[in-house]
Amino acid sequence: MIVCRQAQSREERTGHFRVRHEVFVLEQAIFVGSDRDWHDGHDEDGSAIHLVGYCDGILAGSVRVFELDRPPGLWQGDRLAVLPAFRVCGLGAPLVRCAVAIAGAHGGRNMVAHVQLANVTFFTRLGWSSVGEPEIYVGLPHQQMRIPLPAPELGASLARALAGGRSA
Ligand SMILES: CC(C)(COP(=O)(O)OP(=O)(O)OC[C@H]1O[C@@H](n2cnc3c(N)ncnc32)[C@H](O)[C@@H]1OP(=O)(O)O)[C@@H](O)C(=O)NCCC(=O)NCCS
Repeated sequence: MIVCRQAQSREERTGHFRVRHEVFVLEQAIFVGSDRDWHDGHDEDGSAIHLVGYCDGILAGSVRVFELDRPPGLWQGDRLAVLPAFRVCGLGAPLVRCAVAIAGAHGGRNMVAHVQLANVTFFTRLGWSSVGEPEIYVGLPHQQMRIPLPAPELGASLARALAGGRSA
């Protein structure tokens, strides 16, 4: 059973940060020590929405979304991660869909993401489009990608469905 939703408790936020640490600090070594609030204050200043993904009741995935300063309605998604033991079991894709649904439910119009080149096909299959050429982001080549967000009511309904869970 796969469930994706906004983190609702201190424990879920801790779980969200644990997945990010395991993947981006320990596995990929993109960040040294911690990936929290690297280069921005979104984790602690309340501007980011932290999402969690469960596979059969185990918190195994994370993603974060926040609105950018401009233009109005533009959101960013980042820190998408699934613990290695849970990959290719169908958690990453609904986490991305959940990020898109929740940003749409909050009135966003478009979302951008800096996508590692190895994941461009994964995002393309989820309806995202590449923008421009790859560029260096957090020290590695990334492709900027973009997707239009659903209208608020549709986004809220999609987010409810993903929080309700479905079989993997
Ligand atoms: C990228 C990531 C989140 C994907 O999560 P996942 O749980 O393995 O994804 P899913 O199981 O939902 O994959 C859905 C489909 O995409 C495919 N897929 C997964 N990763 C892919 C990739 N990198 N490229 C192409 N296809 C991919 C799966 O095989 C699956 O295909 P199917 O529908 O035909 O079965 C995960 O590999 C991960 O955490 N990687 C390390 C962190 C990272 O790179 N984060 C993203 C930064 S941009």
